[in-house]
Amino acid sequence: MAEWFESWFDEDYALLYSHRDEEEARVAMERALRVAPELATGPVLDLACGVGRHLEILRRANPLAFGMDLSRTLLGMAPSGLRPWLLRADMRRLPLKAGTLHGICLWFTPFGYFSDDENRELMLQLGGLLKHQGVLVMDYLNADLVARTLVPEDTVEWGEVRAQSRRAIEGDRLVKRMVLTHLDSGEQRDVLESVRLYPPRELQEMAVRAGLRLRRVMGTYSGEGFSVDSPRWIGIFEKAW
Ligand SMILES: C[S@@+](CC[C@H](N)C(=O)[O-])C[C@H]1O[C@@H](n2cnc3c(N)ncnc32)[C@H](O)[C@@H]1O
Repeated sequence: MAEWFESWFDEDYALLYSHRDEEEARVAMERALRVAPELATGPVLDLACGVGRHLEILRRANPLAFGMDLSRTLLGMAPSGLRPWLLRADMRRLPLKAGTLHGICLWFTPFGYFSDDENRELMLQLGGLLKHQGVLVMDYLNADLVARTLVPEDTVEWGEVRAQSRRAIEGDRLVKRMVLTHLDSGEQRDVLESVRLYPPRELQEMAVRAGLRLRRVMGTYSGEGFSVDSPRWIGIFEKAW
């Protein structure tokens, strides 16, 4: 059976998360470029780039920036000018040479989808792909805030889709189960999201083991410092060795 992250990131995802838009990406990417100017030169990977909203901004500063994602649907929805710079790959097996990238960005929580062993392995892989002093931008959720403010159930409508969601912390993961109803056809589907809730300390320990040193933590896309109530945990790391 397909894993949840192999089947969920399609047109329905794009619609339900359409508030995660180009403007949010512009603010985040421009801030990241100020904190990590290395992103403006050499090959930089926007990993799990989705429809390429961050990549589009990044490529204005860096013509060697490129994106990768597993979802054919989201890659197919990217602006046509980005197409030559998009590759389809599974991040667990990145087809790239070690020590070659000047930077890697993971925007809007594409980390924590797998088992602990696979997540750790992914972090090691990311560290290995960066050249000395290359940078990693890890935009992750604030695990503690998520747990404290969890809304167990809600129903929202976006366009022609109604999403009935149930959320729970199951072990150390945030699990969201959705029933999506297409209001025009009545068609229904079940969707799952399951993301490991790593506290910042654990993420940092994983990163250190991958040869990465923390340069800055931001709690918002506009660059405010991280606090317990920050909506995001955005770690900017540099390859130390
Ligand atoms: C929450 S979305 C974020 C997309 C994009 N970074 C953004 O901010 O709009 C997570 C992305 O991870 C991608 N993804 C999920 N599993 C993946 C995998 N194993 N390898 C590569 N990409 C994956 C999805 O297709 C999706 O585009």
